[in-house]
Amino acid sequence: MKVLVATEKPFAKIAVDGIRKEVEAVGYELALLEKYTEKQALLDAVKDANAIIIRSDIIDKEVFDAAPNLKIVVRAGAGYDNVDLEAATAHGVCVMNTPGQNSNAVAELVFGMLIMAVRNFYDGKSGTELKGKKLGIHAYGNVGRNVARIAKGIGMDIYAYDAYCPKEVMEADGIKALDSAEELYATCDIVSLHIPATPETKNSINYALVNRLPKNGILVNTARKEVINEAELIQLMDERADLKYITDIMPVANEIFAAKFPGRYFSTPKKMGAQTAEANINAGIAAARQIVGFLRDGCEKFRVNK
Ligand code: 3PG
Repeated sequence: MKVLVATEKPFAKIAVDGIRKEVEAVGYELALLEKYTEKQALLDAVKDANAIIIRSDIIDKEVFDAAPNLKIVVRAGAGYDNVDLEAATAHGVCVMNTPGQNSNAVAELVFGMLIMAVRNFYDGKSGTELKGKKLGIHAYGNVGRNVARIAKGIGMDIYAYDAYCPKEVMEADGIKALDSAEELYATCDIVSLHIPATPETKNSINYALVNRLPKNGILVNTARKEVINEAELIQLMDERADLKYITDIMPVANEIFAAKFPGRYFSTPKKMGAQTAEANINAGIAAARQIVGFLRDGCEKFRVNK
């Protein structure tokens, strides 16, 4: 069996070593395609692969068509909006993710970016503290929970809204669970986004919603760029000079945001929330183990295209 690790944004070497150990321990072969820049390289590499480990790499119908021996794709991470699930199912390929394995890394970056934002991007002027501020967690999944845990240590007042998580679960963690996204944005000084990119959520973070933030509100995005209605956010930030937007996923309109809103906008150059050795090891090795479990034992835990 041939397992391909196809990562345009590579894992740390220690994670690749760990993946190799898992794969070779059961007599499978590991192939590596890292930092590729052309889709053709991916199409060539998948030709004889039985399993693929990916990150945000796009696995569409063309990739499935080029991979006749493929049985499983594991997205080493949480969001699998980069995989065409319909095409996978049509080709009889199992798709899995590795939920929770990289969430602490993403949550820590939320606070790395937030502290930078409230300290005015380290321009030397007097900023503010996070302690005592109202933090809104928009979706209480694995990353949201880690954000809440860290925010407790900082002494923030924590609120959350999640359309799918029972309020009791959030309340059991000491979080104030709200009834709607509208209420969350109207209540909190800072909102941290943790919703997946789905047909329902795409463009859902719009003018009307973000405009509910109180004066000096901050929107933090470590989720997906597709959930933001960029044109409406630009319009709102034009009208409200008090708002800040900080993101780990560079918007399509990055140049406009950067030119229009200096001191109020920040984007990492490349999505790096999950880019830690620990997250790479956790998610990479979990992916390798899930592949072995599936190919050898038929285990379908974490399958997302049921
Ligand atoms: C995820 O969905 O797991 C995160 O967004 C991390 O994505 P990445 O593996 O592309 O860094």
